[in-house]
Amino acid sequence: MKILGTGSALPDHIVTNDDLSKIVETSDEWITSRTGIRQRRISGGETVSELASKAALAALEQAKVSAEELDLIMVATITPDGIMPNMACMVQDRIGAVNATCFDINAACSGFLFALNTANAYLTSGMYQKILLIGAETLSKLVNWEDRTTCVLFGDGAGAAVVAADEQRYVAVSGSDGAKGQVLTAAQLPLRNFTTEQGDIVTPEQFYMYMNGQEVFKFAVRTVPDSILKIVEKAQVTVDEIDWFLLHQANERIIASVAKRLDIPMEKMPMNMDRYGNTSAASIPLLLDEVLRKGMIKPGNKVILSGFGGGLTWGTVYMEF
Ligand code: UT7
Repeated sequence: MKILGTGSALPDHIVTNDDLSKIVETSDEWITSRTGIRQRRISGGETVSELASKAALAALEQAKVSAEELDLIMVATITPDGIMPNMACMVQDRIGAVNATCFDINAACSGFLFALNTANAYLTSGMYQKILLIGAETLSKLVNWEDRTTCVLFGDGAGAAVVAADEQRYVAVSGSDGAKGQVLTAAQLPLRNFTTEQGDIVTPEQFYMYMNGQEVFKFAVRTVPDSILKIVEKAQVTVDEIDWFLLHQANERIIASVAKRLDIPMEKMPMNMDRYGNTSAASIPLLLDEVLRKGMIKPGNKVILSGFGGGLTWGTVYMEF
């Protein structure tokens, strides 16, 4: 599989740690030292379908592919504008990709990598030839802005990639642990019909993002290094040979812990959570677009992408550029 082009879209509105210290009891010092996040973009009205379409158009332009050439669009998101129609169909309509089949993928922060794996499988089978995949979120609408333990972490944005079949190697490992799903939840939709006694309004507890941060932290610092070791074995390369590690941007300390455990120089682990926070499914494609546009990834480079999050889910990919 080859990435033909990438693109990003971010809301204009920047919210700094100092801005948040005016609405909850927190400080720039706490947020920066515990997470590495300094600011995030928060939607001032931009929807997921708008951000996703903007990122898609930038990726198509760079790929020199027209919207009509696309035969599949996948949007990874946990914050769609609504459940139906899906976001991929809304992107299709906005960009004029009239020949595409469209569906969404819900796998939280691993969503973009699961979309990449799905694209790779379709390309390998020959079912589709030109695929647009997008990770897009407006997490700000699920965050409880009175809960300092979560509201300082997340941001909004979208990243996209256009991919096609190629000789370049692509190797993936992935997994899920539904038994631990309750450590990270949002937007429950309780059963509500004339035979049940539940009220017809979702409670704030059911709606807002809930996270047992320490459990997710432990899961990440165990699972990411394990999956990197698995993937290098499967790809028959060594950790030292990898030029870049693009990890989900949740917490600088998680990335530092992975680097320490596998003896990887931090310079090989680019980060942008200082500017964008944790953007869930958008995090990896936003970072990928940034490093590609800066020319950091050179032809022939070996790159590992790794995501982890709600579900629980995780996925790690090895790609040669
Ligand atoms: O994308 C999905 C994946 N998500 C993640 O990867 C997140 C993983 N988890 C984390 O990144 C970290 O667990 C957090 C950043 C969420 C929290 O960091 P922590 O070092 O685990 O802090 P903690 O939860 O142990 O809380 C330490 C203290 C507590 O106070 P006490 O009980 O020690 O008095 C918290 O109440 O920090 C307090 N605290 C805060 N203080 C100031 C929690 N949030 C804040 C805050 N500002 N925003």
